[in-house]
Amino acid sequence: MADFNAGKPFDFERGFTMDFDLKTGFSTMLDTGKRYLSQMKGMFADDAAYDAACDGQDPLVYEFHGMPVPEHEGDLAFGCSIVYPGKVGNEYYMTKGHFHTMLETAEIYYCLAGHGYMLMENPEGDWLALELEAGKAVYVPKRYAHRSICVGNEPLRTFFVFRADAGHDYGTIETKGYRKLLVEADGKPTIIDNPKWK
Ligand code: NI
Repeated sequence: MADFNAGKPFDFERGFTMDFDLKTGFSTMLDTGKRYLSQMKGMFADDAAYDAACDGQDPLVYEFHGMPVPEHEGDLAFGCSIVYPGKVGNEYYMTKGHFHTMLETAEIYYCLAGHGYMLMENPEGDWLALELEAGKAVYVPKRYAHRSICVGNEPLRTFFVFRADAGHDYGTIETKGYRKLLVEADGKPTIIDNPKWK
């Protein structure tokens, strides 16, 4: 079987196919960005535990890839993120989390593997943590910051799609933090107030 009348790879004007492994979340056509623990200073609640976890090592917390889509209204960006199992103190490994620069844009995540949560909050202070497991999709509505958190022993792998020109605002979360944290208490994921929230 072959394509007919297809153009170049990543032809966002005329369409294209690519390999995308739904077990691993990886594609041979894309490099992944990597976030190591040293790049997440101040984002976990327990600074002493963070310093200890970084002492002489720098574990990989998550990686991600996204399509090199032009940021045009009407295009869709998609990709995958993979959060590895681990904790800083009792707080699970997570992504930095972001709002979209265009706040009024939503996003779909589909969980390929692992067990985790999508932690979301809006500027008005509403928050929710939705459980992710393989086969579940989560709708992240417009106006909600979103962060994936791995609570299992396997990597949490999610596929995502969003409006290509939505943009990413990481700074608000880096500065203010989330109102809530997901930590392990009595062996179970538990929501607590973030003592660092500003
Ligand atoms: Ni997003």
